[in-house]
Amino acid sequence: MQVRKASKKDTKPILGLLVQLRPSPSSKSQYNYFMRIIQRYLTDKDKQMLVAVVRSKIVGLASLVFLPRLNQKLELWIPELVVDQKYRKKRVGKSLIKACVSAAKKKKCFRIRLESGNRRKGSHAFYRKIGFEQFALSFQKPI
Ligand SMILES: CC(C)(COP(=O)(O)OP(=O)(O)OC[C@H]1O[C@@H](n2cnc3c(N)ncnc32)[C@H](O)[C@@H]1OP(=O)(O)O)[C@@H](O)C(=O)NCCC(=O)NCCS
Repeated sequence: MQVRKASKKDTKPILGLLVQLRPSPSSKSQYNYFMRIIQRYLTDKDKQMLVAVVRSKIVGLASLVFLPRLNQKLELWIPELVVDQKYRKKRVGKSLIKACVSAAKKKKCFRIRLESGNRRKGSHAFYRKIGFEQFALSFQKPI
């Protein structure tokens, strides 16, 4: 398994994987919109997309956002992390996070932060296992 930066040709399999995290696009125009968002991600200097590849197949991804804070160094925020159901518990997620840690060190970030929904008990266990600690409550106001 290899972890590398995503490129434009990975857009379709990336969107294919993201539906394991959130519902599929509801229309062709929404699908095209999501494709454009992913492609923009790849060229934005404050963002990165890492993919895990097994025998040329994309089996996992992590999206990275390097957030400036007002009185701190950069923070690496990981909005999306997903491993293909068939490839879970094979260290793919751990390898993606390891690559995120390297990227964070390279950019001299002071920490990595992410959110995981209350219902995702498995991913909470995963994050704890690989050295993350719970440190805050997360609030939302749906729009
Ligand atoms: C969470 C997720 C990314 C983990 O990826 P993964 O490739 O299956 O995890 P790994 O194989 O790298 O696991 C690393 C360690 O965590 C443990 N672990 C992974 N998933 C676990 C689970 N559901 N429950 C308990 N432990 C778990 C593994 O056993 C392993 O421990 P070890 O080092 O002692 O062997 C993956 O399950 C996934 O994509 N889930 C659905 C999407 C999701 O919830 N994403 C996170 C959104 S915040």
